[in-house]
Amino acid sequence: MHCRHILLLFLGLIIGGKWVAAEKAKPITETCLVCMCEALSGCNATAVCVNGACGIFRITWDQWVDSGRLTIAGDSPLTDSSFTNCANDPYCAADTLQSYMVKYGQDCNNDEKEDCYDYGAIHYMGPFNCKADMPFTYANIFNRCLRSAIRDGKPQKSN
Ligand SMILES: *[C@@H]1O[C@H](CO)[C@@H](O)[C@H](O)[C@H]1NC(C)=O
Repeated sequence: MHCRHILLLFLGLIIGGKWVAAEKAKPITETCLVCMCEALSGCNATAVCVNGACGIFRITWDQWVDSGRLTIAGDSPLTDSSFTNCANDPYCAADTLQSYMVKYGQDCNNDEKEDCYDYGAIHYMGPFNCKADMPFTYANIFNRCLRSAIRDGKPQKSN
């Protein structure tokens, strides 16, 4: 009885702690998210899947599962439709990418920083292939977007 209470308290602390960590851990800046969707979909919010990659960030089922199956309010994490509903919701999709980068964030281009260039590469090419060259069209739109965001003085720091 006593033990069970301690166990429950302990689990509560772990789950509570994870929740707080998940809330705080948003490595991708707003600017970076905008440039990612710009390069991936033109930030076209029309709900659509292209070759199984859905929403403005073209998130795949595997990424969604890997990121902890986040859902929009009221959805179960266990159904297929929850994936498309989340990927097609800009907030759920952005949070999915944030969790994904908490898990897989790394310095892909060897500039000794982990930043938007790395996140763009990780998302597009996968965490184990992010050192490869980005396809030209994607890299072109993505880099141009980031340069113009920096020029306009938008903050680059994480929120
Ligand atoms: C957005 O995507 C939809 C579906 O692919 C397409 O029909 C529509 O023309 C696009 N809108 C813009 C502004 O590109």
